[in-house]
Amino acid sequence: MEQIDKNRFHLQKMAVNYDKMCQLMVPGYDFLQNAVIDILKFENMEKIVLLDLGAGSGILIEKVLKEFPDSTCYYIDSSDEFMSVAKEKLQKYKDRVNYIKSDFCRNWESEITVKPTVITSMSAIHHLQTENKKKLYQKCYDVLEEGGWFFNIDEMKTVTEDAYLKNLYYWVHHAKEQKYIVSDDLSSPYEAWMEKFSNWKKRNLDNAHLPKQEGNDIHEPFLAQLDCLKEIGFTETDIFSKHLLWCLIGGKKSF
Ligand SMILES: C[S@@+](CC[C@H](N)C(=O)[O-])C[C@H]1O[C@@H](n2cnc3c(N)ncnc32)[C@H](O)[C@@H]1O
Repeated sequence: MEQIDKNRFHLQKMAVNYDKMCQLMVPGYDFLQNAVIDILKFENMEKIVLLDLGAGSGILIEKVLKEFPDSTCYYIDSSDEFMSVAKEKLQKYKDRVNYIKSDFCRNWESEITVKPTVITSMSAIHHLQTENKKKLYQKCYDVLEEGGWFFNIDEMKTVTEDAYLKNLYYWVHHAKEQKYIVSDDLSSPYEAWMEKFSNWKKRNLDNAHLPKQEGNDIHEPFLAQLDCLKEIGFTETDIFSKHLLWCLIGGKKSF
């Protein structure tokens, strides 16, 4: 069966609307990203070289560039459309950002010249099949500077299937509720988001019984993903925060 909305990340309108709406439409979006920033401040990291996987419109990268004035960033994404939105947003930071257009499964690491001290990702890695998630986590470990941190904020299954299903329905409820608070200037991006979101519902609720293909939302339990990080060699692995469907997991590459 043809995948529903397979090319959704390669549409300019989608990239522009995602940028405008994600902080409102993804429950806990800023809360979870800010948790990463807080951990980095607490860790007292000297000079941050960030690598953000599936960096989209560059919202997390901009937060890091602002909070840590000496930091530099690698932006990685396979979508030209998302990258063009990010380039406009991050223009003012000039050469503090290096852009790499690549699929996670390709050889993006060959373009890394300075080892990252922090690797992040949000709402991107869950599009990979289990084996490819593991391979990507391994690559992150290999590329990371010793003493560096890896964080993945992502849609994940939780400890029971019932609770996971409730989290999916909660997102549907949350998205509908935003209709009543969205400002007039965002009403058209809101409608566009809801149109795409109806496909998300088809994929994840109506057709939940169908086998998942690469590019779908392939939700996996956060506990299994933490085990995978531990097996690879990450230390201090933890679920640092959780809000409904979104988990912030990560670990450190010890010296
Ligand atoms: C839902 S958006 C999230 C963007 C951003 N991280 C955020 O949270 O605002 C997912 C992003 O991951 C990128 N992406 C998805 N699968 C990818 C893959 N296999 N390789 C590289 N980028 C991918 C998409 O192009 C898109 O920009």
